[in-house]
Amino acid sequence: MNIYLNNRIVPASDAKVSVFDHGFLYGDGIYETMRAYNGAVFMLDAHIKRFFRSASMIELDIMRKRDSIKKAIYKTLSANSLKEAYVRLTVSRGHGAIGLDPALCKKPTFIIIAQELRQYPAVYYEKGVSLTIAKTRRNLKEAINPQIKSLNFLNNILAKIEAKKKNAYEAVMLNAKGYLTEGTICNVFFVAKEKNSEVLCTPSTDCGILDGITRNIILDLAKKNGIAIKEGKFTKKNLYNASEVFITNTTMEVMPVSKIDNKKYASGYITKLLGTAYKEKVKSYTLRFKDI
Ligand code: PDD
Repeated sequence: MNIYLNNRIVPASDAKVSVFDHGFLYGDGIYETMRAYNGAVFMLDAHIKRFFRSASMIELDIMRKRDSIKKAIYKTLSANSLKEAYVRLTVSRGHGAIGLDPALCKKPTFIIIAQELRQYPAVYYEKGVSLTIAKTRRNLKEAINPQIKSLNFLNNILAKIEAKKKNAYEAVMLNAKGYLTEGTICNVFFVAKEKNSEVLCTPSTDCGILDGITRNIILDLAKKNGIAIKEGKFTKKNLYNASEVFITNTTMEVMPVSKIDNKKYASGYITKLLGTAYKEKVKSYTLRFKDI
């Protein structure tokens, strides 16, 4: 495997970062996860835009232009002869003396990892996965805003540990006020019945979530398919009472949920419809894609 490290492609065995890197010492940095389909990085512009937003929210100067980052991503894919891939862009504050002051680091550390996509087992999509509602609460947006896709992932890791202990695939976190937020690496959707009609619900960004790129696409596809949507504040009771639940992210796309704690769900038609519509969107994107 070849890694892009600070402007050079190097074998993974030579891709080394200092023990004084503030990404390692303090989780001071940001990242993005992307997925390449048939050589095209899906929604690349949106990911780069969010990457720069995360950087600006932690006052990190990436010291690179958007176009050069895009070129570097494709260079990394080609250095690994990959077409179906997981791509991770990571930037830390860089190495510097011990201490929290960002000025101790002169240059950010910039890394691109591209590897073969580890496909999720087909049974996850056929039967659905199980979730648990974690005791760990999502970071307050006034503390570490979940809109920053930061290297500081301990909040999510604590929830993931809870999920594993309960044999659940993923954990959903509530915020400090008890409203639903998101999973440890995904957004959450559910279908609620309202006066004999069905509404697709998802926590709004002000609940303290990462505004997932997949989430935005799903909301758009729902609108286009005449499905009513509601972004807002929801409780765990709303989730338990749902008729369908699914989770989304860049690598998993739309994944049905069959169980949350002791409550079971059938995989319903809205989940299937949106899962198919998402795949079609990916297909048309990759067909239109021209090498940069
Ligand atoms: N995770 N919420 C959190 C906390 C996430 O980490 C992610 C993405 C999402 C979904 O965002 P998107 O649809 O843009 O992928 C929501 C990625 C996949 C990761 O951590 O690797």
